[in-house]
Amino acid sequence: MNYKTLLLEIKDHVAVITVNRPDKLNALNAQTINDLNSVFDTLKNENEIYVIIITGSGEKAFVAGADISELNKLNVVSAKEFSERGQSIFNKIEQFDKPIIAAVNGFALGGGCELALACHIRVASETAKFGQPELNLGIIPGYGGTQRLARLINSGRATEYILTADMIDANEALRIGLVNKVYPINELMDSAKSMATKIAGKGQQAIRLAMKSIRAVNEISLKEGQKLEASLFALCCGTEDFKEGTSAFLGKRKPLFKNK
Ligand code: COA
Repeated sequence: MNYKTLLLEIKDHVAVITVNRPDKLNALNAQTINDLNSVFDTLKNENEIYVIIITGSGEKAFVAGADISELNKLNVVSAKEFSERGQSIFNKIEQFDKPIIAAVNGFALGGGCELALACHIRVASETAKFGQPELNLGIIPGYGGTQRLARLINSGRATEYILTADMIDANEALRIGLVNKVYPINELMDSAKSMATKIAGKGQQAIRLAMKSIRAVNEISLKEGQKLEASLFALCCGTEDFKEGTSAFLGKRKPLFKNK
């Protein structure tokens, strides 16, 4: 599992993907997009990996956007393919059935902000800065940013940030719900790993079913969502982990989930 632009570290059921182009502030070139596609295809089939963290190399950037030297060469035909390719990989991330935590350690701009938005949980360092600066380049966000940012922080705020191209600092990101938690930079990865370990300690079947139910929120009505929730809740109650979890509580002991 070697990638030209990514580092992959696996420990205790948690995989950490680091986008590793620090000299270009981890900007997403075509190789990085391909590597991200491959790494998620690989991790999907790794049964012993329960949670994934994605971060950027160095202390300055998570991902400073799509690689502008490649953007500069796009025309109206290649631009559509470019946007659709990125969207499909970020959709794969959003649809991934294992939780993915973005540990945002610096600039998360353009495609970097969109990558964080596609993840299921976002935590950030105090030094993180988010933004969709595409308008400064004469383009609009093309990897799902107009859609996911508007859904996450509301369309009025998303319109302001996209049209002004202003950056959002970590405190503001926390205030508007763009990130869940903010940590000093030297505590970010330990905190993200400790959240991942907590999630990895639950029954993974229930984790996947909870994610499936939550994911439906943007696609179906409340009524349909509740129907889905009831079916998935019922599925949980057919698992050994359900028996173990409830019996452990009643027996005043810690549950030992087997993911069955
Ligand atoms: N694409 C390609 N290269 C990028 C990049 C990007 N999105 N973002 C940064 N880089 C490169 C710079 O060109 C520079 O390379 P060089 O040393 O070979 O000249 C290197 O990364 C360091 O960036 P630099 O601009 O010198 O750092 P800075 O601290 O002065 O500024 C930013 C940091 C993030 C504010 C600035 O790099 C920036 O605005 N980047 C573009 C962000 C953007 O518009 N992203 C959306 C793209 S759709």
